[in-house]
Amino acid sequence: MALPEWDGELTSVRHDPDTGAWFVIGVHSTRLGPASGGTRAMVYDGVADAVADARRLAGAMTSKMAAAGLPMGGGKSVIALPAPRAELDDATWHRILHRHAANLNLLGGNYTTGPDVGTSAADMDVLATLTPHVFGRSAAAGGPGSSAPMTALGVFAAIEVGVAEAGLDGVEGLRVLVQGLGAVGADVARLAARAGGKLIVTDVDPARCTAAADELGAEVIDTGDVLSRACDVLVPCATGGLLSPATAATVPCTVIAGAANNLLTDDAAAEVLRRRGITYAPDFVANAGGAIHLVGREVLGWDAAEVTARTRAVGDTLAGIFADARAHDISTVAAAGRAAARTLADGPRPTSTA
Ligand code: NAI
Ligand code: PHE
Repeated sequence: MALPEWDGELTSVRHDPDTGAWFVIGVHSTRLGPASGGTRAMVYDGVADAVADARRLAGAMTSKMAAAGLPMGGGKSVIALPAPRAELDDATWHRILHRHAANLNLLGGNYTTGPDVGTSAADMDVLATLTPHVFGRSAAAGGPGSSAPMTALGVFAAIEVGVAEAGLDGVEGLRVLVQGLGAVGADVARLAARAGGKLIVTDVDPARCTAAADELGAEVIDTGDVLSRACDVLVPCATGGLLSPATAATVPCTVIAGAANNLLTDDAAAEVLRRRGITYAPDFVANAGGAIHLVGREVLGWDAAEVTARTRAVGDTLAGIFADARAHDISTVAAAGRAAARTLADGPRPTSTA
């Protein structure tokens, strides 16, 4: 397979003929510390797509760690499954986790994984019996538990700061459209409802929509309407790639702040949003709460209160990015990118463990 050029440090690609799974690990940067980022397990159109996704996601982790001031580099694992996760029997899934752990061990700690789409704290518990290079075990297994609640808290802080930046007076009464009611999205929807937002939700899983309608009085819309339904705040919490320059040109909202990694297909989409006056909270800043939780608890020795305070501070980081973007007439992604680039240029700095 001919691989396109990449600015990252290393890509490992392995195939397991027994299960048909492909394993890709992208180590984008170890400049600020050992690389880290979750394991995404899903079906891909082909191994080239899986490699491209792992690399793009690993690059986003480098920016996320730098923007959040965490002493880690960026990496990501992708497991291209032979069939959807729900259709795999336990023996096949365990064999896949064993293979993944063996690959992690080969990298010898230069990359540490954690949960992402398609993997959970329970899977991290299994991996942790096979390799030390794992964050995010369940609390029952001695780990810090799911990263999703902190990710949701950080996203909600991003929504509040984005709303203020757009000149709106708080979340109360605003139409908040949440796409994806999984671990993060369901929690963000709860926080927004508690703040008085009028919830509009969508998910490919109808049961999740029904639950949000019952619990929060949310209006449910078709998944295909997410880019055409007028709202004040769009909160993408499914997978990436929702906003291209074309869809950014028409999406009818005022603020965009969500959890989905790599929400924009490219930086040009951010420029389109800027020209339309839409306040966009860059994904790798808004969704840093999960990384702050995992790295804070497992590397820096922070307690839950410290992690919560640092996650709320995502709002302060974003306020600085919005101000820089405004002052220099650049997109929020460009502003966030240059802040992360400055941190990377400075290199590792001494960290205080609480
Ligand atoms: P999840 O897998 O629990 O939830 C994703 C939800 O999106 C599911 O309910 C799924 O049915 C739904 N979905 C998928 N495609 C959809 C579509 N086209 N339209 C509507 N709904 C759709 O994942 P989780 O953990 O909630 O993560 C959500 C996003 O946030 C992912 O992109 C993830 O990479 C990102 N993220 C998650 C973090 C975490 O701590 N869990 C941290 C940072 C980013
Ligand atoms: N996958 C999540 C993210 O994208 C959580 C995570 C952070 C996993 C850091 C491992 C390391 O932020």
